[in-house]
Amino acid sequence: MRDDAPERRTRLHRVARVRPLSGGCFALEVEGALPVTGAGQFYMLRTEHRWPALLPRPFSLYSMGEGERGGSFLVKAVGPGTEALQACRAGDRVWVTGPLGRPFPDDVCDPVCIAGGIGVAPFLLLAQQQRERGRPQPRLLFGGRTQVALAGLHDFADLARVFPCTDDGSHGFRGLVTDLLGDLLQRGEVTVADTVFCCGPDPMMHAVAAACAARQMKCYLSLETYMACGYGVCNGCSVAVRGERFHGWPYSKTCIEGPVYCADELVG
Ligand SMILES: Cc1cc2nc3c(=O)[nH]c(=O)nc-3n(C[C@H](O)[C@H](O)[C@H](O)COP(=O)(O)OP(=O)(O)OC[C@H]3O[C@@H](n4cnc5c(N)ncnc54)[C@H](O)[C@@H]3O)c2cc1C
Ligand code: FES
Repeated sequence: MRDDAPERRTRLHRVARVRPLSGGCFALEVEGALPVTGAGQFYMLRTEHRWPALLPRPFSLYSMGEGERGGSFLVKAVGPGTEALQACRAGDRVWVTGPLGRPFPDDVCDPVCIAGGIGVAPFLLLAQQQRERGRPQPRLLFGGRTQVALAGLHDFADLARVFPCTDDGSHGFRGLVTDLLGDLLQRGEVTVADTVFCCGPDPMMHAVAAACAARQMKCYLSLETYMACGYGVCNGCSVAVRGERFHGWPYSKTCIEGPVYCADELVG
């Protein structure tokens, strides 16, 4: 954990609203101030009662309200934990532990964000923070199989320069995010001197990392590795790594030293 990392804490937060989004996703909006959180950091969540799984589940912080106005998590219902969160109603309470992990580096003034599906979650917070700092609106290349997979797209309306793309052409550019990246490079909307921040399904992140490596573009990936404890004790989230910051150790715990890694640090 970084020395300057805010201390993680566990608190019960009242649910303000469960806002339905497309593609089986929803925004879980909670009341009560959340700690300072960097884009890409995550929280472990569970419902106060009737939690159907053994352990809480990890989610990126999606947005931060001002002052005591709380924040939100973008969630896709895929199993018992996420379905229990979806069943929450205003006034219910959820346990929220965090912030956890390392965020995207904050010294990149104008990043190119590439998201697939729910991988878009950390980028709304990033876009909010760019605005607060008087920085440019981030470019967001947001891909999904079809338009409904672009959950939360409208939340970025005044916060980011959004370039949507879909496999079937139902919204925006037709093709993969890597094709879109090539197109934007050709059109000068992105340059090889830019830094890419990426979050999404593993195959997409592999492809984006390879596309960046081929052009010698700096690239950071936020991994969604399976996690059990979320704070370094179970070893369930290890990934193979290389690089100085790991002091020769070939594995890294995603929940502590990730989920954000420089693409060069990841092996395989
Ligand atoms: C750092 C981090 C940040 C995350 N941020 C978000 C987020 O912002 N929004 C969001 O909706 N989800 C996010 N996830 C994924 C989320 O934690 C899982 O979807 C959730 O744990 C599923 O719990 P469940 O009990 O509903 O389903 P489970 O029964 O645990 O799983 C249901 C299905 O989803 C698969 N699955 C579960 N977890 C993962 C995973 N990590 N990667 C790939 N497949 C998985 C299982 O194999 C199974 O097929 C994040 C994960 C990590 C590690
Ligand atoms: S999730 Fe337990 S060590 Fe990382």
